[in-house]
Amino acid sequence: MSITFRIPVLALLFSGLLRMDLAAQELPHSFARPDQVVVKHLHLDLSVDFEEKQLAGAATLTVERRDKTVNQLRLDTRGLDIEAVSCGEAELDWALGEEDAQLGKALTINLPKYDSLRSDRIKIEYATRPSAEALQWLTPEQTTDKQYPFLFTQSQAILARTWVPCQDTPAVRMTYSAKIKVPAELMAVMSASNPQEKNASGIYKFEMKQPIPSYLLAMAVGDLQFRELGPRSGVYCEPSVLRRAEWELADTERMIEAAEELYGEYRWERYDVIFLPSSFPFGGMENPRLTFATPTILAGDRSLVALIAHELAHSWSGNLVTNSTWNDFWLNEGFTVYFEQRIMEAIYGRQYSEMLARLTLDGLLAELTELDERDTWLKLDLANRNPDDGMTAVAYDKGYFFLRMLEEEVGREKWDAFIKRYFRKFAFQSMTTEGFLQYLEANLDAGINLKAWVYSAGLPDNCPEVKTDELAKVAQAAKDFLGGQSAERIQSSYETADWTTHHWNHFLRSFKTADLSIAQMQDLDAVFKFSRSGNSEITHDWLWLVIAAEYKPAYLRLETFLTSQGRRKFLQPLYQKLAETEEGLIRAKEIYTIARPGYHSVSSSTIDGILGVE
Ligand code: BES
Ligand code: ZN
Repeated sequence: MSITFRIPVLALLFSGLLRMDLAAQELPHSFARPDQVVVKHLHLDLSVDFEEKQLAGAATLTVERRDKTVNQLRLDTRGLDIEAVSCGEAELDWALGEEDAQLGKALTINLPKYDSLRSDRIKIEYATRPSAEALQWLTPEQTTDKQYPFLFTQSQAILARTWVPCQDTPAVRMTYSAKIKVPAELMAVMSASNPQEKNASGIYKFEMKQPIPSYLLAMAVGDLQFRELGPRSGVYCEPSVLRRAEWELADTERMIEAAEELYGEYRWERYDVIFLPSSFPFGGMENPRLTFATPTILAGDRSLVALIAHELAHSWSGNLVTNSTWNDFWLNEGFTVYFEQRIMEAIYGRQYSEMLARLTLDGLLAELTELDERDTWLKLDLANRNPDDGMTAVAYDKGYFFLRMLEEEVGREKWDAFIKRYFRKFAFQSMTTEGFLQYLEANLDAGINLKAWVYSAGLPDNCPEVKTDELAKVAQAAKDFLGGQSAERIQSSYETADWTTHHWNHFLRSFKTADLSIAQMQDLDAVFKFSRSGNSEITHDWLWLVIAAEYKPAYLRLETFLTSQGRRKFLQPLYQKLAETEEGLIRAKEIYTIARPGYHSVSSSTIDGILGVE
C-alpha cells in the first residue's frame, strides 16, 4: 500500500517539477525554445506566384546550440505546407504539432548530433497558402493604378509565421538575406537593403545585416517606383502616387536629423518609406529601413506626417530596443509616441505638438472607460489571447504620458541623457518592463511611484497636463455652435480658414456626446463641406457623426470610405457605430459584403468580430 502510494506521488512530484521547469522556459505566443537552439540567420529563397497566391521555395536557418544536450529545433508556423527539411545532404526528420487557435503549429526538427566544428544550416522547403494571414494579394483592380497585381506582408505581432517558418518571438533576433523572384514587370522590396530600380530578370537580392526580431520581416511586390527624398531617404510607391508622396514627405530628412539629435545615431543606414495600396490595415509599420505606410496620410498639406515621425522613432524604440514579449508592448509604442512627439516639437514647435498631445489625451480618456481594468495596466497580460488585443491606447498613450510625466519630474536635460544612454546600452537587445524599471531606478533618481502607472488600472493623478490655447478656442467654437450659433458665424468669428486637420478633429470630436440634429449636420456640412473632405482623419470623424445622427445625405460618402480603404483604425469605429442600431447593422453587413474581399486579414478579422459574420 505504502509503496504503491508513494511511487505515483513521487512520479507526480517529479513530473510536476519537470513541467514547471519547462513552463519557465516557455515564451508567450511562441512554440520556440531559443534557450535550447536559437536561429541566428535566415536566408529566404522564394518565388512569388500571383496566380496561385503562393510564396514557394526555401528558408535556410543558421542555428546555434545553446543547450548541447538538446538536438531539436522548434519553430513557429501557421498554415505553411512543409515539403522537406535537410541539413547539407542529410534529410532531417520533422513533425508539425497540433494546431493551436492562436499560435498555429510548432514545427519540430530533429537536428544532427551537436558538432562544435560545424555550424548548422537547416533548409526548410515550403510553400504558403492563399489564406496566409500576413499576406495580402491584390488584383490589379485593387491597386491605385489598376495595372499590375500587388503583394505586401504584415508580420507584427505573430503573423511572420504565416509566411516564414521562424522563431516568431520578439525575444529572438536574427540577421537575414533573401533572393526573391517576381514577375519581370514588378519590383520587390523588403525590410533590408533595397533596389531602386526594376531589373529585367525579376530576381532581387536583399540583405539585413543588423539582427532583427521576426515581426520586422517584411516584403512588398508591385509596380513600384523610387524617388529620392534626401541623402539617405526616399520613397517607393505606384507611379501615379509618386509626386504627391514626394511632396508630403518633404520633411523626412529633417525628421531623421531631429531624431538623431535627440537620441543618438540612426543605426540602419537608409530610411525609406513605401506607400502601399489603400487596403494596408495600419497607418504605418516600422519595418526597418523601409517604413510601410498607408496612402490615407497623403492629405496634400503635410498635416498627417506625425505618422512618419512615429515609424521613424521606432528605429530606436522597438527596432533597436525591442519589447521582450507582447506583454511589454508599451515599451515599443509608449516610447515611440513619446519620441514621435519630441520629433514633432523639434520641427514644428511646441504649440503644434501640444495639439497632438491634447488629441492623444482625449482619445486615451475615452478608451479607458471602455477597457477591462486589467487591460489598462501598462504591463499587459495577454496569455492565451491574441497579442493584437494589446493594441489599445494604453500601450501607446498611457505609455506616452508615463514617460512625459518622468520627463517633467526629472527635467528634460537629465531625462534626454538617460534615454539616449538607454538606447545605446540596450541596442539590438530585447527589454522587459521589469528590466526597464530597474534601469530607471538605478540611473534616475525620480522618487516616483512607478507601480501606480505600470501595475495599476487607469490614469494616475500625476498625469501631466496638456495646455493648448488653440484647441481651447476650438472647444469654445463647438460650444458656441451647440449654443445656437450658425456654422457661418463660427466660420467667420473663429477664422476657421486657418484651421489645421487637428483643429477640425477636435471640433468634430466635441460633438460625439452632443446628439446633433439633422439640421445641425446640414448646417455644418453646407458651410464646412465635411462630406467632401479629402482628408481621411476629418472624413472619419465626420462619418462617425453621420452614423450617430443618421444624416442620410452622407451615406454614400460613408459607403465609399468603407469600401475604398482598409485602415482598421478608420473601419473599426464606423462599423461599431453602425452596429449599434438594427437598421445600421443591416447596412453595415451590406457594405461589408462588398468591402471584405478588399480588406487585409488584420482588418477583416476585427470587423468579422464586430458584425458577427464568418
Ligand atoms: N507597430 C505599429 C503597428 C502595429 C502594432 C501592427 C501592433 C501590428 C501590431 C505601428 O508603429 C503603429 O503604431 N502604427 C499606428 C500609427 C501611429 C502613428 C500611432 C497605426 O497604424 O495606426
Ligand atoms: Zn508604433
